[in-house]
Amino acid sequence: MNGHKVSLWRFFERKPWRAAWRRFVEGAFARLFYGRPEKPGPWHQCTWMGVPTLKCPLDLWIYQEILWTRRPDLIVECGTAYGGSALFLASMCDLLGHGHVVSVDIRPWAERPRHRRITYLLGDSTSPAIFQTVRDLAFREGQVMVLLDSDHRCNHVLRELRLYAPLVSVGQYLIVEDTNINGHPVLEHFGPGPMEAVELFLEEDGRFLADRSMERFGLTFNPKGYLKRIR
Ligand SMILES: C[S@@+](CC[C@H](N)C(=O)[O-])C[C@H]1O[C@@H](n2cnc3c(N)ncnc32)[C@H](O)[C@@H]1O
Repeated sequence: MNGHKVSLWRFFERKPWRAAWRRFVEGAFARLFYGRPEKPGPWHQCTWMGVPTLKCPLDLWIYQEILWTRRPDLIVECGTAYGGSALFLASMCDLLGHGHVVSVDIRPWAERPRHRRITYLLGDSTSPAIFQTVRDLAFREGQVMVLLDSDHRCNHVLRELRLYAPLVSVGQYLIVEDTNINGHPVLEHFGPGPMEAVELFLEEDGRFLADRSMERFGLTFNPKGYLKRIR
């Protein structure tokens, strides 16, 4: 039985099938891992140091690699929720001995983690007041990286992309989370979301390229979402 399974695997790993087979396996696993709104998959129970973190753990590993190589001075996060991703980023900054996180959310939360490297801002990420505060912080820092993980509707993400892109330093990343929704490949009925916003943005802004090498683990919530500023 086991031998049978192994030979089936080997069959599909052969050259004529390999690419389609991998796409199928990766797509199936992405759907399984994500689940459905009424029955979310295991990512929904992801925590960092006890704080709920609404991310794919393989993306968090990629974040760690980016922070190590790019060493941003300021990480701007739109969309805090419980504060798990902000705490993760701050913990990485602790390990590097470098960096600060400013995280924006429209909703107050009773108990977000306190950390000397995190500043929380309350408000709409696209409001003039919030943006001005973030811009002032960014101007004081050298290297700036931005993560967009707030309202996932296309219009909002596109507004954020247009606003925050100029703050990203050359060589740093502008990461758009959850480009996998609206059928890329999960949550088919979401409607235009982050992926559609990224595609529109990349057509109008030649300073950024989608760095597909960041998707090399095969499972990511951010396909085409790791945008690197190249000029
Ligand atoms: C997906 S959650 C963020 C998850 C968090 N980054 C993490 O990985 O644990 C999205 C958050 O965006 C916030 N949000 C929604 N619309 C927003 C807006 N216009 N401006 C700022 N935050 C917003 C929501 O309140 C919610 O907490």
